[in-house]
Amino acid sequence: MLNLKTGDLYKLQTDAVVIPVAEDEQLHENERVIFLTGKTETAREFKGARGDELTLYNLPSLKSPRVIFLGLGKKNKIDAESLRAVCGKAVRKCIKNRLRSIMIAAPSSGILGMEIKDIIEPMLEGAFLGNHLFNKYKEEKKNKPLEKINFFVEPQIMINFSGLPSQVETVCKGTLLAREWVSTPSNFKKPEQFAKIIASIAKKENLIIKNFDYKYLKRLGFGSILAVAAGSRNKPRLLILKYDPKGAKKTIALVGKGITFDSGGINLKPSGSLEDMKMDMSGAAAVAATLISAAKMKPKVRIIGAIPLVENMPSGDAARPGDIITGYNGKTIEINNTDAEGRLILADAISYVLKEHIPDILIDVATLTGACVVALGEKIAGLFSPDDELAEKIIQSAKKTGERCWRMPLPEDYRELLKSEFADISNMSSSKWGGAITAALFLSEFIKDTRWAHIDIAGPAYTKKETDYCGVGGTGFGVRLLCDLIQKL
Ligand code: BES
Ligand code: MG
Ligand code: ZN
Repeated sequence: MLNLKTGDLYKLQTDAVVIPVAEDEQLHENERVIFLTGKTETAREFKGARGDELTLYNLPSLKSPRVIFLGLGKKNKIDAESLRAVCGKAVRKCIKNRLRSIMIAAPSSGILGMEIKDIIEPMLEGAFLGNHLFNKYKEEKKNKPLEKINFFVEPQIMINFSGLPSQVETVCKGTLLAREWVSTPSNFKKPEQFAKIIASIAKKENLIIKNFDYKYLKRLGFGSILAVAAGSRNKPRLLILKYDPKGAKKTIALVGKGITFDSGGINLKPSGSLEDMKMDMSGAAAVAATLISAAKMKPKVRIIGAIPLVENMPSGDAARPGDIITGYNGKTIEINNTDAEGRLILADAISYVLKEHIPDILIDVATLTGACVVALGEKIAGLFSPDDELAEKIIQSAKKTGERCWRMPLPEDYRELLKSEFADISNMSSSKWGGAITAALFLSEFIKDTRWAHIDIAGPAYTKKETDYCGVGGTGFGVRLLCDLIQKL
């Protein structure tokens, strides 16, 4: 799929040569590319500004039937994300035009003042991620992904980075897997069904799998998971995936919220808030896909994935506001809002992982609160951690992969908002403000002193609008970030 190519650009076989162009400076060093870029000078409609596009056909002596120029804006504003975006855009444009292969020219490292790897890697990612279509449920498949995406580079770069395209594919396949799962409608990913789907792929990668069913969860006292599941005829699951390389010294636990549909339960969500709630298992998808990619990347750390899968529905059997339940760790919880269900299933999964696997670090990923979307919008995740060093590492990985995280506070004096008159804790804040923070504080009550971070991905997990390298639906947010992070922990 992804390949680095070198040679005489004029002679290479491809449906389109794609040249990214800046508005103020030449980005390329290759003579052929510079000559072709010169052809845009007479075109008034193309200045190389961000978003500019120009296609020229049948240029003399060029084997490719078309050259597409894409504007990147001002040279000093170009970064990894704009390179990712321009390649995604090129791929999506060519898919719509029914092309089969493209050749994207990589800008020069010297001119951009960036390491060559920091140029090519995001370009490979943007192109690969942009080449994904979710059309499983359409009878007529109008468009098809490209068959070949090539990158035109200098010979030395092709030699030095020959392994990079396949590394990028390994990680980005994880992102696409997560996207597919998130976009899958809830009637095709009920907890049991979804657990099986994940387990069958995990098995191929030789991950160790435990798939706890309803009876087991009941016997072991997973009271929180069971309370959220009570309203649905589709029974819950807790899936544990383990990557256990020889000689591993550290254990990292990843916990992902897996609400396969969030109706809100008895505190039923209104129309307008229900329609996209198939995406409420995006944390679970990110964790499972990360383990599957990690099994191929083979980092030296042990990784435990804990994935509670539950459907949150209203019914005569559902948990009621005011109900008090006992979680896996023995704490009692007053359920004051059945729509604050994510923190309940996470509390049990976290308690289990801490007890059974004693991780050095625990990171949970969850579409936890609408309040986090209010705070940071739809493209930035909220990062909560009392551990400065861990938080900084996550922010660095997030910067690298373009999956942005913004650190949020965990103020001690807000804890009192979670006090319950009757139980150890309430799942609902007594204030209507700061909901992302109080949700994170609720989780922290189950952590004890393990190094911990919580990433609220309610905003960026799903997109209702096509972006440069992601179609409508699940974005796979978090997979590339976690894959980068586990190699650095
Ligand atoms: N799954 C939702 C959070 C969510 C909202 C995710 C929008 C993605 C987009 C979560 O379970 C929820 O319902 N949270 C409530 C919490 C409240 C009842 C304390 C919320 O955000 O309103
Ligand atoms: Mg909810
Ligand atoms: Zn939810």
